[in-house]
Amino acid sequence: MRLNKYIALAGVASRRKADELTLDGKVKINGAVMDQPGYDVQDGDVVEVNGRVIKATTGNYVYIMLNKPRGYITTVEDEKDRPTVMDLVADVEARIFPVGRLDGDTSGLLIMTNDGELAYRLTHPKHEIYKTYRARVAGYLADRRLERLREGVDIGGFVTSKASVEVLKQGERSAIVEIKIKEGKNRQVRKMFDAIGNKVLELERIAVGNLYLGRLKEGHYRKLTPKEIDYLKNC
Ligand code: URA
Repeated sequence: MRLNKYIALAGVASRRKADELTLDGKVKINGAVMDQPGYDVQDGDVVEVNGRVIKATTGNYVYIMLNKPRGYITTVEDEKDRPTVMDLVADVEARIFPVGRLDGDTSGLLIMTNDGELAYRLTHPKHEIYKTYRARVAGYLADRRLERLREGVDIGGFVTSKASVEVLKQGERSAIVEIKIKEGKNRQVRKMFDAIGNKVLELERIAVGNLYLGRLKEGHYRKLTPKEIDYLKNC
């Protein structure tokens, strides 16, 4: 398999970027720098990119949707030994990994797969798939504040792009809000509400693009349907 395809299938970079990495001397085969993008990777070759051994996944891809509960870390391995999303999919035989991240305090829809190319594409900043969150936030959401959220707020050196925000219910002390954003900065929704002075009390991701969590119970997962997989590959 051509080297750039191998790197892309490992979810490390696009094929074009893989060629750049190769030409820049960042790729090693069996311990030696390989600067030929046309190299044909052989069975048994050990491929390293930026000092990390990578492995392409070919063939049997698995795509699942997990309803992550709060308290689980979105990582394949946690150095502090906290519960991770991997614990919830332990009976999936394929070596799947999370696509993007939900912070530990956030629950909801997490896609997991062993399709590195799809994972790479979905999490690339250029890829503008909307993620929908339902949040319970403290206080009163004045129109002026909502407008700021919709137009973009500074969350510490980064101004968010336009967001769609709808208040579903305004209570006496808190409000339920639905917010759709394209980017995926660390704790972005929490930081956006911090920026307008309304702390997020609870946060759940209810959709990624057109894929909705629906009635999937917390801590449970299900396989994506062929239609859903097709959607993700073409969105
Ligand atoms: N925004 C957050 O604050 N947390 C997440 O997990 C995702 C988006």
